[in-house]
Amino acid sequence: MKMRFPLLASLLALLAAGPAVAADSLRDQAKGLFQPIPETPPQLPGEPTTPAKLKLGKMLYFDPRISESHELSCSACHDLGMGGGDSRASSIARGWQLAGRKSQTVLNAVFNKTLFFDGRASDLKDQVLRSVTAFPGAMQKTRGGPTIFNPAESNPAKTHAVEFLKGVPGYVDAFKKAFPDEADPITYDNAARAIAVFETTLITPDAPFDRWLKGDDAALDDSQKQGLKLFMDKGCSNCHNGVNIGGASFARFGLVHNPGPDILPTDDWGRFAVTKNVADKYVFRVQELRNVELNAPYFHSGHVWDLKKAVEVMADAQLGVQLSDDEAGKIADFLKSLTGRQPQVTLPLMPPMVATTPRPQP
Ligand code: HEC
Ligand code: HEC
Repeated sequence: MKMRFPLLASLLALLAAGPAVAADSLRDQAKGLFQPIPETPPQLPGEPTTPAKLKLGKMLYFDPRISESHELSCSACHDLGMGGGDSRASSIARGWQLAGRKSQTVLNAVFNKTLFFDGRASDLKDQVLRSVTAFPGAMQKTRGGPTIFNPAESNPAKTHAVEFLKGVPGYVDAFKKAFPDEADPITYDNAARAIAVFETTLITPDAPFDRWLKGDDAALDDSQKQGLKLFMDKGCSNCHNGVNIGGASFARFGLVHNPGPDILPTDDWGRFAVTKNVADKYVFRVQELRNVELNAPYFHSGHVWDLKKAVEVMADAQLGVQLSDDEAGKIADFLKSLTGRQPQVTLPLMPPMVATTPRPQP
């Protein structure tokens, strides 16, 4: 008899707390795997952000004239009004040549542990150096590698970029301000440093999922919460985790089932091109899933245009799991909650050319 009241009381308390407990345990499970995007841009190690560097980096990001043909800026393939990619199955490089891989988003790239689908760049500056050298369309198709982005040391694109920048008075001034301690600040390396600093500002905080992680229950609807649960319980989060829900590790595409040559073309061997290790054939950087709704088509081949279909492909290829239509739909709904506040970028004014500025190469 004595026990009756305390028991009843705790039972009632438990009942009252029921749904809250469930929500909290889902959040606890999620907090162990994912972190929100920070509100303020991070600093690159050893590369302090200054207003002058940021201003220069933004101009260079948007300026097609640093490419040899004056056709291709970073923004041509990484459109900030379109999720930071180019919405094509394959990017188009100089002379309409196909790059052979889809453009990865630049948004939140600063939080990825390695860059590119094969992880061949380890930080943003390294990545920029390799992208700029891609401009000339000196397209070298390597066996098992992508068609572009093979930096050649004496690349004419590098020479053009530097000579062009030296030939524009506005850029001479902007480099002096961005690198005030250097006698000869217009170098290819410094251009990459400035662009990398600009890229750190291209982050997308405040996604519904992040608001929910921080405690706002109403930020996700029921379908999205169930999708999140499935995402964790089925094993997606074994690979897609951390601040970018991916971007931190490598995995073989087709770990359990080969998705077939249309989705996984046989001539792109992914990470193998970097390590030459046979075990790395068809291994790719786990793609980040932040803003994934904005980044169709999916996979390095860009051959899947529908997010729900991409979810089904992943479940089968990576986990050997057949999702029901309802489950795939819920996971896709959850993935849509990863769309954050897009950077509001005012277009920079690029400094004018003068009579002696080097001309584009045909
Ligand atoms: C011709 C189109 C094109 C141009 C121009 C281009 N990119 Fe890319 N970018 C791509 C493609 C395609 C990939 C994926 C390449 C791969 O994995 O081999 C990529 C990958 C990246 C990544 C890696 C993202 C990640 O998650 O790992 C970053 C960052 C990036 N580009 C930034 C830039 C910057 C900065 C510039 C300008 C200096 C630039 N890109 C110019 C097409 C382009
Ligand atoms: C064993 C690791 C692994 C697991 C498990 C995994 N993925 Fe992936 N995921 C990857 C890799 C690697 C890629 C990049 C493949 C490529 O582009 O070729 C990727 C790419 C994706 C993409 C395409 C993103 C884009 O922008 O192109 C989506 C969507 C995705 N995964 C969702 C999921 C979902 C949902 C699950 C669970 C059903 C899942 N993944 C399970 C490794 C994994």
